[in-house]
Amino acid sequence: MTPQRNKAMHHFQYKNGELFCENLKIRDIAEQVGTPFYLYSKKTLIQNYLDFDAAFNEVAHLICYSLKANPNLSLLKVLVDLGSGADVVSGGELYKALHAGVAPQKIVFAGVGKTEDEIRYGLSENILMFNVESMAELDKINEIARSMNKVAPIALRLNPAIDPQTRPYYATGFEGAKFGISITSAFDTYLKAQSLDNIEIMGIHVHIGSQITKIQPFTESISKVIELYQKLKMCGINLRYIDIGGGFGISYNDEKVPSPKQFANAVIPILKECNSIVIVEPGRIIVGNAGILVTKILYVKEVGAKNFIVCDAGMNDLIRPFLYQAFHQILPVVIKEGKKIVADVVGPVCESGDFLGKNREIIGPMPGDLLAIMTVGAYGFTMSSNYNSRTRVPELIVDKDKFFVARKRETYEDLLRGEI
Ligand code: LLP
Repeated sequence: MTPQRNKAMHHFQYKNGELFCENLKIRDIAEQVGTPFYLYSKKTLIQNYLDFDAAFNEVAHLICYSLKANPNLSLLKVLVDLGSGADVVSGGELYKALHAGVAPQKIVFAGVGKTEDEIRYGLSENILMFNVESMAELDKINEIARSMNKVAPIALRLNPAIDPQTRPYYATGFEGAKFGISITSAFDTYLKAQSLDNIEIMGIHVHIGSQITKIQPFTESISKVIELYQKLKMCGINLRYIDIGGGFGISYNDEKVPSPKQFANAVIPILKECNSIVIVEPGRIIVGNAGILVTKILYVKEVGAKNFIVCDAGMNDLIRPFLYQAFHQILPVVIKEGKKIVADVVGPVCESGDFLGKNREIIGPMPGDLLAIMTVGAYGFTMSSNYNSRTRVPELIVDKDKFFVARKRETYEDLLRGEI
């Protein structure tokens, strides 16, 4: 199958040279709230969710949106209203998911290092299942469940030992990764799980990595899951749920990536070999292109032969360029005429790694101009920090011709919170 351009349209478009989010001029929003800020389009978010959900229509399925991509409460609420469940990876994410109204029976709890408190919390809230990553964790969950007089619902996370064909830091399903239970010991671990009194086997889980733009790693890993499924069935172990994880890649720079429908069409025939309920844990593909970061140019400077555009947002607000050399388009909020320069777009943080984009062509940049860093809805704000004692920026959501503050801008007093 030839991957097509991801047609998931976002609602950040130019009208008469001005960048809009839905029906609002971004320049007007900046005037009201100041910069920098994250801005999400509700319409894009809803459309992404509905497209993804529809792609899996042919099979009984549950979407467990992966909170780590963007755990903003208001954004979560939009997804909850559409019927989304949640994939959580910490007690904090479980707390936020419940707070946003996710039904406990739609929550799966993953993570290689769940603490006793987190396991207890999940059990007391009656979540759908724990995605268990080791034999030792299985024993621990069994023990805690026994002490609480409960039976813990679990799936085992399989490490399928394939090549996820993505960047090393986003890959999880390869041999040698810390994630999951190796394919060679998974069968025995299931037999062990079956023998434990306070464990109930619900299903199987696999998540091979993130920003995967090829279909083949998904089909390969799911085929391995199905093989194990059949083998377990012959031993009387029935898996009600097959959780295929997340990782569906998106387009950051007009590159061609499969659409949700293409991803789904490739895996559904394999999944149909069993009649389990399919769980999917998308993160990036739901929120990625629904968010931008708006920043103001503070200075334009030359150092030797090099041009720098210094902005009021930096690596503490968006760390992906530094951490992964990730590319995000940088667009003017108001299109200008003038001289085109090639410059590094950098922030105010005291690190040479503080850049938002390198060697970018920008027309006539001037202090006061606004820039939009595109496709930062996933792993943007949530990975931001207070480094250099910088206050974290607000998150706003646009709903047609209105916007609201979904998270306030931090103040200097916030920087003192909890410190003695
Ligand atoms: N399920 C599990 C168990 C995961 O670990 C992840 C992501 C997902 C689902 C969602 O994956 P997605 O559909 O968003 O690809 N910070 C990196 C991405 C790390 C992803 C970690 N796990 C980045 O900025 O690109």
